Amino acid sequence: MYRIVRREQFSDATFLWDVEAPDIAASAEPGHFVMLRLYDGAERIPLTVADFDRDKGLVTVVVQALGKTTREMRDKFKEGEAFEDFVGPLGLPQHIDKVDHVVFVGGGLGVAPIFPQLRAFKQSGARTTAIMGFRTKDLVFWEDKFREFADELIICTDDGSYGEPGLVTAALERVITQQKPDKVVAIGPMPMMHACVETTRPHGVKTMVSLNTIMVDGTGMCGSCRVTVGGEVKFACVDGPDFDGHKVDFHELHARQKRFKTEEDKANEHFAH
Ligand code: FES
Repeated sequence: MYRIVRREQFSDATFLWDVEAPDIAASAEPGHFVMLRLYDGAERIPLTVADFDRDKGLVTVVVQALGKTTREMRDKFKEGEAFEDFVGPLGLPQHIDKVDHVVFVGGGLGVAPIFPQLRAFKQSGARTTAIMGFRTKDLVFWEDKFREFADELIICTDDGSYGEPGLVTAALERVITQQKPDKVVAIGPMPMMHACVETTRPHGVKTMVSLNTIMVDGTGMCGSCRVTVGGEVKFACVDGPDFDGHKVDFHELHARQKRFKTEEDKANEHFAH
């Protein structure tokens, strides 16, 4: 069993768990994910590692209560309680190469998995710019945590209630034009990552995206996370989840994301009654 050492609620839907998992904490790297199962017979869900503390043996996940399991996590599992399974680290870690300037773009929940990458690039000596995008001020989280490792921090809200009004792509375009960074890492909803990739493409700035949102069983068995990258078939859970965004076929991914919508709606409906 794995204990939830600490819980933090960021908004109605978004919350954090610090999980006691020393073995995973010892080998976790930025970009890794874990598979979580709440109890025997429950579904397994993939969650990207948002932080890890090797000394304390803790792994942090940030979760949005959208589906059946994530709503159970929010509503039924309290601080100090334990759950059945936590398997990882899985996937290939992000390659932390030696570059001068990296721009990180996190959208909504995508801010969480961006964090370990931001810290790792900063610690490797890179200059770091972080762009965090949220719908509104109430959804902003981890501003202080990001400030610690970002040389420059830009917060954008869709409704203009905090930071710069508008989408992260406007800020990204400006930073790219003015500062000519070496690399961009973008994690968030699929349309946001797609828009970031199209923003950087004309400038030829390498852009990594994380495709963890299309994973289902996380083991390479279900085929749900199949994606075409540079004309080759890849599986996000085995070959990723991080890929060169300029090579990813986003049109195929948009179609794939819609595939499980009906089943998810049914499970949600069932949980709600
Ligand atoms: Fe099932 Fe990758 S998530 S094959």
